[in-house]
Amino acid sequence: MVSRVIPVENFDLVIFGGTGDLARRKILPGLFRRFCAGQMPPEARVIGAARADMDSAGYRDFVAEAVREFGGDRACEDGTLAGFLERMHYVPIDARGENGWRELVALIRPDVVHAFYFSVAPGLFGDLAERLNVHGLTNDASRIVVEKPFGRDLEKARALNRDLAAYFDESQIYRIDHYLGKETVQNLMAVRFGNMLFEPLWNSQYVDHIQITVAETVGVGGRGEYYDKSGAMRDMVQNHLMQLLCLIAMEPPSKFDPDAVRDEKLKVIRALDPMDPHHIVRGQYDAGDDGPDYRTAVGDPRSRTESYIAMKVGVSNWRWVGTPFYLRTGKRLKARSSEITVVFKALNHSIFGEQEDHRNVLSIRLQPNEGITLGVTIKEPGPGGMRLIDVPLDMSFADAIGENGDQTDAYERLIMDVIRGNQTLFMRGDEVEAAWAWTDPIIQGWEARGDVPKVYESGSEGPVDAVQLLARDTRVWRKVAP
Ligand code: NDP
Ligand code: BG6
Repeated sequence: MVSRVIPVENFDLVIFGGTGDLARRKILPGLFRRFCAGQMPPEARVIGAARADMDSAGYRDFVAEAVREFGGDRACEDGTLAGFLERMHYVPIDARGENGWRELVALIRPDVVHAFYFSVAPGLFGDLAERLNVHGLTNDASRIVVEKPFGRDLEKARALNRDLAAYFDESQIYRIDHYLGKETVQNLMAVRFGNMLFEPLWNSQYVDHIQITVAETVGVGGRGEYYDKSGAMRDMVQNHLMQLLCLIAMEPPSKFDPDAVRDEKLKVIRALDPMDPHHIVRGQYDAGDDGPDYRTAVGDPRSRTESYIAMKVGVSNWRWVGTPFYLRTGKRLKARSSEITVVFKALNHSIFGEQEDHRNVLSIRLQPNEGITLGVTIKEPGPGGMRLIDVPLDMSFADAIGENGDQTDAYERLIMDVIRGNQTLFMRGDEVEAAWAWTDPIIQGWEARGDVPKVYESGSEGPVDAVQLLARDTRVWRKVAP
């Protein structure tokens, strides 16, 4: 199956922080892939902006390097990269000063979509919004893309929302959570709302519990300074895991439109039970073959920041009361594996007189090996009576859709949505605030109690206490396997 490419309107995309790590690894290579797919209009332009003194020729060299390293095979094809580079421009600019703004204004064309990507430290978001306004760039054709973290608590998120709202309407603000741009994450909605099969059973009457796992093998790497101030709660749970939980738990929106979807997600966040501290396990990774322990990696021998978290979350609404959601995420774990597992209840009565507990289990693999497995119970083949076994109905997206299926990365998909003006896969201001309102008391509780994370073995499945979190409820985690 060949993916359909729908061209977008002509645009000028300004990447503030256009020389940074995110631009180099994700944004620029992603744009290149869209260019290769034929989605960029012939006149579309990308303007890198940062303080470094460089001209457009120098920026093209920088972009070429980034694309060669992270853009995929097409980078080497004759002419492809050259064509992409022609669209690249650069303006040295200071988000906090006057430097460069006149040049930027002169470069921007009046009759195209204007997208301003804030790929800079969050402390500069407000400054950028203000500068854009001062220089007359906050018109109806403009929209801003705001990177995470969106604040570090409710108060800061509210202040940031206010700063942005001073110059931009909510319909112009695109708060990125790149998990929402992942193909398989969107598939969660397709699976739930595009099939008759699942939705009637999607509630606490039939679902025993749900597990959401986002396991990483990488450590904090070069981002230790940022990470140690955030931890897994702020870095992953408040945004990515919360979004996954929302998509799994939300009511069917009346239609697939930005506000209908975001209204339903917001209701889920507001229905989350306050966390019981006994239902959370925090961990910090130890040294392993792949590198130093967490504290050494972040340069603070007394750090109490968690690189792992597991929690049992309750959603108090008509659909889910009584069905726990178990969430876990961590760095330096056994395998890179993100998966959502819906474990259905056991049968009320077995006509076969079976003593064993047979349950249907639906697993949605987000990455890698994207696909869906449905565990069903069948008769064990052969003579000897009616014995039951559980077997998987396994569907890998790569097999089902083929190698030519959509390989679009989250960032490129989301940037194209910005140009199209489609906010469905972006977080609304009230959603982000609600997520912080739930997270804040948890973090404050740790701080007040001086909570120290448990050390876990690098390359393991996380702290032993996380196993006990489910064992107390006579449940077990799915194995972390790629
Ligand atoms: P980097 O530190 O690598 O890059 C920061 C960029 O901002 C550089 O281009 C820098 O260039 C520019 N910059 C800094 N100060 C100013 C200023 N006063 N005016 C104009 N430009 C400035 O950061 P990242 O690329 O890693 O992160 C960017 C944003 O994306 C952050 O909000 C981060 O939290 C978020 N993010 C990053 C991820 C990642 O994997 N890197 C993942 C998810 C989110 P110069 O110094 O020349 O001005
Ligand atoms: C980012 C976090 O938002 O997501 C990182 O800041 C994390 O710490 C990353 O590694 C995980 O994203 P992905 O797409 O690799 O699962």
